[in-house]
Amino acid sequence: MKILSIETSCDETAISIIEANGDFDDSKFDILANIVHSQIPEHAPYGGVFPAVAKREHSRNLVPVLQKALEQSYENSKSQIQNSKQISDDKVQEVEKILEREPELLEQFLKVIPTLEIPDIDAIAVTHGPGLEPALWVGINFAKALSIVWDKPIITTNHMLGHVFSTLLNEENPKIEFPAIALLVSGGHTELILVKDWCEYEKIGQTRDDAVGEAFDKVARLLDLPYPGGPEISKLAEKLGPRGSKFEFPRPMLHSKDFDFSFSGLKTSVLYTVKKLGELTQEDKEEVAHEFQQAAIDVLVKKTIKAAQKYNAKTVILGGGVAANTELRKQLTEAVEKNLPNSTMQIPDIKFTGDNAAMIAIAGYFTYLKNGVTQEPLKIEADGNLSL
Ligand code: KG4
Ligand code: ZN
Repeated sequence: MKILSIETSCDETAISIIEANGDFDDSKFDILANIVHSQIPEHAPYGGVFPAVAKREHSRNLVPVLQKALEQSYENSKSQIQNSKQISDDKVQEVEKILEREPELLEQFLKVIPTLEIPDIDAIAVTHGPGLEPALWVGINFAKALSIVWDKPIITTNHMLGHVFSTLLNEENPKIEFPAIALLVSGGHTELILVKDWCEYEKIGQTRDDAVGEAFDKVARLLDLPYPGGPEISKLAEKLGPRGSKFEFPRPMLHSKDFDFSFSGLKTSVLYTVKKLGELTQEDKEEVAHEFQQAAIDVLVKKTIKAAQKYNAKTVILGGGVAANTELRKQLTEAVEKNLPNSTMQIPDIKFTGDNAAMIAIAGYFTYLKNGVTQEPLKIEADGNLSL
């Protein structure tokens, strides 16, 4: 089946079109279109994601991103183009009501959508949580409006499920065997998920305060680095090379008996060190970045390995924006090889670590395989705290 997926939970406006086939164990995904519009320049002055700006930017960008996705899919497939048709007055009224809180999106919608051919898709998948509620609502309302004018069903998907299975987007046809342990690390989440089967999950640990990506971003700010801080810290740390840092930061909860994390104490420790140093040299910054990154990785790797051992995981999965971090990828892979000889490591290609809609299509397909299409489109709501 063909799925058009929409992702607006944070600061990426993303739309994909995926051809999905097979059952859970032999599923196959062809990416016909994958467009991600990042809002980083808009949020950079705030040093983090600003919800009202995210909502405004999604409203502004969804229609152009959809147009690009449709163009890309027509180049990539011999999609049959169904004829465009005028939107009836009744439907226009419904769309006006659905998008009444997004006037900029409504205006573009009514101008552009009637000029487009109705795409050859079977369903629309949309993220309904977790994430920033104002941002989620824009994507949901857009999905509802499209569902009305194109007569297509909606499948709601959990954003974190997308991160768990984003590794299936890799070209070399990865294999996930259960039980699996997934470490999900992003700007909003740090979670360990026990994946018992394709549709059976249990969150076994999470951060008690800051998410690890948030800690990277905050430490970057202390070092006068631009947002998002993760890639900047990683680059600085790399300059120092394998030599250890002269600083020593704590590894919070490294030896705790549970699978929870905490990163705010680590961030505070960096803050004190930076304050004590006063004016920072380039070398100081490299040393701080290196030791902060290593402290975060030590905790993430140790807890993930411990969880994988406890639950006899056959697969260890890494996902989320921080999964782009080279050292984390390397050190977790090495730790799995060393400590879990019967497990394989699954990491998404860098282009699928951050938020994207292709992973939302996969999550949508699995939700469809399990439940079919059960959603009543107009009843769909955002749930900022949705859990797996
Ligand atoms: O998954 P994502 O794109 O969006 C959220 O749902 O949060 O993750 C973004 C986070 C940011 O905090 C960013 O600094 C971090 O991922 N990040 C990194 C790297 N690339 C992105 N953190 C560490 N190292 C990286 N290379
Ligand atoms: Zn995410």
